[in-house]
Amino acid sequence: MSQTHPTDSVHPLDNPGVDPRAIAAEAAAVIADKTGVAQHDIALTLGSGWGQAASSIGELIAEFPASEVPGFSKPALEGHTGTIKSIKLPSGRHALIIGARTHFYEGHGVRRVVHSVRTAAATGAKIMVLTNGAGGLNPAWQPGTPVLIRDHINLTAASPLEGATFVDLTDLYSQRLRDVVQGLEPLDEGVYVQFRGPHYETPAEVKMAGIIGGDIVGMSTALEAIAAREAGMEILGLSLITNPAAGISPTPLNHEEVIAAGKAAETRLAALLARIVKEIA
Ligand code: HPA
Repeated sequence: MSQTHPTDSVHPLDNPGVDPRAIAAEAAAVIADKTGVAQHDIALTLGSGWGQAASSIGELIAEFPASEVPGFSKPALEGHTGTIKSIKLPSGRHALIIGARTHFYEGHGVRRVVHSVRTAAATGAKIMVLTNGAGGLNPAWQPGTPVLIRDHINLTAASPLEGATFVDLTDLYSQRLRDVVQGLEPLDEGVYVQFRGPHYETPAEVKMAGIIGGDIVGMSTALEAIAAREAGMEILGLSLITNPAAGISPTPLNHEEVIAAGKAAETRLAALLARIVKEIA
């Protein structure tokens, strides 16, 4: 039995004595073994609405369930595919596609939430593309609108960093990468506000998010972006607006409609993401 896995019943990331980067390194070694790709150059986490992108950005080299990789939890949500793919880009570089997201609201702690990002960094990826489905505060954003994340406000009261780890978050969502995307396709930009969830926000919370400078509300990306920055990666964040945030439109929110808006936009978003990856990787 390996030292980092003291018992079968304890999740390796739940052992406070274990450095989560050590598990990420183990995960990266398994990925290198399964894919035959020693180093990946860019990684993408595909949230609701972005799942089709993998097939349009390049040639599929390998695909396997994330649960076969150390530290990954079983997928909790329909619409989150739970697979990891390795794609060879037309440039010959390699992209790691993570279709398995652990959300903070699942209650397994932040280490598991950011394990995919740390694993991506351990595979060699220098750029982390984080995508999500989210609610929009701007009433002009119809469901299906992609928005570039310019900055975030983390309302989870949690951090993936442990101990006295002081990481600078200025330019967290890389201006350089946003400029590249804007040169390809002009998109609106916004500040992403991460709530814990899993309940959607109240209209009062959405109003507060707007007053403090937010434009987009969601439940995933801020914690991942912090971990990606700690790992030294350059970050691009993209939200698909799946619905007007609570109180922005008079109709109540409905998870099925959020998923449906994602599916309806999928082909368009896949084409957009393929163009972006071609340019930045
Ligand atoms: N709020 C939070 N998360 C979301 C939303 C929302 O309105 N839509 C999709 N994910």
